[in-house]
Amino acid sequence: MVERLLANEAGLQGRSVVSLKDWSPTEIKQVLMTAKWMKSNPKIAEIQYALKGKSVAMIFELPSTRTRVSFQVAIQSLGAAPVILDWQDSQLGRGEPIEDTARVLSRYVEALVVRARSHEMVQTLQKWATIPVFNALTDQAHPFQVLADALTIWEHVGYLSGSKLAYVGDGNNMANSYMIIGAKLGMHVRIACPEKWWPAQGVIAYAQQEAEMTGGSVQVMTDPEQAVFGADAVATDVFVSMGDEDTAEKRSQLNAYQVNSQLMAKAKAQAIFLHCLPAHRGEEVSEDVLEGPQSVVFDEAENRLHVQKSVLYHTLSEF
Ligand code: CP
Repeated sequence: MVERLLANEAGLQGRSVVSLKDWSPTEIKQVLMTAKWMKSNPKIAEIQYALKGKSVAMIFELPSTRTRVSFQVAIQSLGAAPVILDWQDSQLGRGEPIEDTARVLSRYVEALVVRARSHEMVQTLQKWATIPVFNALTDQAHPFQVLADALTIWEHVGYLSGSKLAYVGDGNNMANSYMIIGAKLGMHVRIACPEKWWPAQGVIAYAQQEAEMTGGSVQVMTDPEQAVFGADAVATDVFVSMGDEDTAEKRSQLNAYQVNSQLMAKAKAQAIFLHCLPAHRGEEVSEDVLEGPQSVVFDEAENRLHVQKSVLYHTLSEF
């Protein structure tokens, strides 16, 4: 890992985070390193006043606990003001075009945090906004969650490059984002999903190409035991994500992909368990794994705050 940089030395000023495809391995490592430094030094003035006088709008089309609170606290803890918009209570809920919303909000605030059903919608917002746009979850990507997960793996496993991450479950936005960040960080990522719910071939191909350049690897398979074998970290997510169709067929196929103590036993003895939360106990994860000694899900949730502070600092601070 490189040494910690001052906000403007990372060269990230004015950048958006819509997908981690847009960020280089060095940029991702810089953000993680600053996040780790901020976590140990939360009270120093350089951090507390970094964004003084700025405002950041947050727009949520879908429910949230962690993202909403951790972004609000991150914004406040850097000295900026969060402006929270509920989709339905804004004109977006009555059909105002996203292109107009992007241009209007760009005149008031210094950045936009957006959780939306559609990834294309966030891409459109970024196209029309003149300020950074931060993706707080779409149907295709959850970049801040996997930044937090990478920080958690770094803390608990001790290293990222060369570490083995297994994701078991639905081939959803988390699976996509794990493949991308893992490839960029030189990790060995194995994704196990029923074939019908594999991630999109384009994302797999992109991640495999990136991994070739970092010494990592990305494999997608159907066998959860094969994916978890020898892993340093085992992750899962809900079987049916927000906005997805909940079918009996999907659930019956995914039932075989529960992370339980039998599956965790295939990983390294000291392997950690990750879940972005909220978790459905007894569905994608058993109660004993979620509450057991290998589970680091609350460290993972806390790390949302630190990685978001780091990204806001590097992209929005002028110092
Ligand atoms: N993990 C996550 O994004 O949680 P929320 O849906 O509560 O924001």
